Amino acid sequence: VTIREQTQVAIIGAGPAGLLLAHLLSIGGIESVVVEARSREYCEARQRAGVLEAATVRLLHDAGLGGRLASEGMECDGIYLQFGGERHHVDLRSLTARPITFYAQTEVVKDLIAARVAAGQSPRFGVTGTEADLTDADRPVLRYTDMAGSRHEVACEALAGCDGFHGVCRAAVPPAVLGETSMQYPYAWLGVLAKVPPSADQAVYAIHDRGFALHSMRTPEISRLYLQVPAGERAEAWPDDRIWAELHTRLAMPGQEMGTGPVLEKAVVGMRCMAVSSMRYRRLFLAGDAAHIVPPTGAKGLNLAAGDVALLATSLIRMLRDRQPDLAENYSALRLLQAWEAMSIACQMTCMLHVPADEDRFAVPLQFAQLRHLVSSPVALRAFAEHYAGPVSLEFDPGPAGAFAA
Ligand code: FAD
Ligand code: DHB
Repeated sequence: VTIREQTQVAIIGAGPAGLLLAHLLSIGGIESVVVEARSREYCEARQRAGVLEAATVRLLHDAGLGGRLASEGMECDGIYLQFGGERHHVDLRSLTARPITFYAQTEVVKDLIAARVAAGQSPRFGVTGTEADLTDADRPVLRYTDMAGSRHEVACEALAGCDGFHGVCRAAVPPAVLGETSMQYPYAWLGVLAKVPPSADQAVYAIHDRGFALHSMRTPEISRLYLQVPAGERAEAWPDDRIWAELHTRLAMPGQEMGTGPVLEKAVVGMRCMAVSSMRYRRLFLAGDAAHIVPPTGAKGLNLAAGDVALLATSLIRMLRDRQPDLAENYSALRLLQAWEAMSIACQMTCMLHVPADEDRFAVPLQFAQLRHLVSSPVALRAFAEHYAGPVSLEFDPGPAGAFAA
């Protein structure tokens, strides 16, 4: 038997994009259902991003999700760029008034799931056979099988594809409409979570002739570290002492001692770019990693996902509650501009800070020329800071009948 249901918005994926979308829609009085292939535990433990831009922090606070973020998030004035044996401060706070906050994606996801559960709207975890059916242009249907093996058919007014890079929603769009383009770098990141207090007060982006290294943080006791490794590298090739030796070499600065500690987790993250040309087809709207992947160097992925769903929630509230489809019609164009802006800084930083895979004798002096110009020209530094710090605000407006939670 098939269980037939109805909702206003069916959301595929309980990552940051899908969960935040459900929360913002509920502020505007729009009902939704979220389905997720993985378990709650898996979603809450998946190690990924950790940098929240000021506009993302503000949206989470305004949406009533700022409690733990305010007490546990670590706000930082800026970042360091390290090259040629020197560490240069990029003071985002004084250059842009938009500091960044370290607060792990795992914690954002936990807060969002807790909010949905408290509202009696728990995501449906552990589903299989997810299908986005767009045959009827105005009445999309979500189909899935729940953990008990029952098949569900959810009729809705709009479908949100928040199912990440490996999801099913992009494939529901005809390729000619989707217009996907992508590119892969010849290197990857080894991401390491370690039980060691951060050894710098801000994130350090370092280029060394052995490769890029990034020192970041999660809590006063936990550091997050990344090393450039060849594409296709296996994490098992990196025993803990090799990780520490390489981090110490690449991040070394006179007078800046870096500790060591137990490695809690390590994984290799590919470096790729992908963007669709249309984030909408009929009544399916793509958001977050389902629509675009930026290389992690700019720390933009999670923030872009938040920006997408801020505008998507506003668009769907206007379309479904106020019967004004204007914003929904512009959603794709508006968000693709932002995605490409983020792509541009992320790709620029990636090229400037990674050792090219081949013997590219042209690339290295070019990188140093760019980095020197950046830190010696106040105008260039300001432009970089503006770009890195992200947008001034995200576009969430639930309208007159919607109320922001206090
Ligand atoms: P996701 O977080 O991918 O969520 C999509 C959800 O959809 C998942 O929970 C998935 O299980 C679910 N799903 C998929 N298919 C289906 C289906 N058929 N049915 C139901 N559910 C489905 N960004 C940074 O800024 N810094 C980083 O260090 C960083 N590291 C990363 C490491 C990895 C391994 C990855 C993949 C990404 C990383 N990112 C990083 C990017 C950032 O984490 C993402 O941009 C962010 O997670 C996007 O959120 P999302 O909700 O769009 O997608
Ligand atoms: C982190 C990740 C990034 O991609 C980045 O550019 C900076 C920090 C992090 O996980 O903390």
